[in-house]
Amino acid sequence: MEIELGKTHPNHEKELLELYRAVAKTKDGLIRKPEEITRDYVATFLRQSLENGLSLVAYFGDRIIGEIHAITPNIYAFQHLLTDLTIVVHPNYQGKRVGRNLFLRFLDTVQNEYSHILRVELYTREHNERNVKFYESLGFVNEGRQHKKIYHSQDRLETPLHMAWFNPLYNAKLCS
Ligand SMILES: CC(C)(COP(=O)(O)OP(=O)(O)OC[C@H]1O[C@@H](n2cnc3c(N)ncnc32)[C@H](O)[C@@H]1OP(=O)(O)O)[C@@H](O)C(=O)NCCC(=O)NCCS
Repeated sequence: MEIELGKTHPNHEKELLELYRAVAKTKDGLIRKPEEITRDYVATFLRQSLENGLSLVAYFGDRIIGEIHAITPNIYAFQHLLTDLTIVVHPNYQGKRVGRNLFLRFLDTVQNEYSHILRVELYTREHNERNVKFYESLGFVNEGRQHKKIYHSQDRLETPLHMAWFNPLYNAKLCS
């Protein structure tokens, strides 16, 4: 499968909305329900990650089949973070290494172009062992669990883990 990776563009908003909705419909897809994947949600993460963060997309032909983004909060004390990382691959293309390649390119870009970033942070649900192993294989470490933080239904609460990856090429002198 010929997959290309590239930087995300502001005019990708509509395609990203469809992609995120398709992933949200799958089991364990996203914390948000499909109806919570709104235009505003997508427009906001797109704007924030383009203005002060990083977003990459994966293409199959001219179709966007995957996206990864994280943002740097607009707060002095958090200028060395890329946080709230989210990655999605369209359900029809999962399990074909699109996610791994997208994530490797993301971390490579952080090392080569974001030397002011020390930490890349994400949450993942503890019971999703496949995802936890995936992140660990990329170098993420488990920084702790938030017992039953996520309401799933009346008889089920889920526990997220906070995970972080540290940039080996971090240069504190680039921070203000
Ligand atoms: C998580 C996700 C981004 C991974 O992308 P992907 O393209 O499906 O995954 P890849 O094919 O690159 O595989 C990555 C790893 O996942 C695991 N994996 C992939 N397919 C698997 C399968 N069918 N069974 C078990 N593990 C599997 C493997 O550990 C694999 O590692 P490997 O490269 O050493 O084999 C994608 O599945 C997805 O969008 N899931 C739903 C949304 C989500 O959970 N996002 C993360 C939370 S923000």
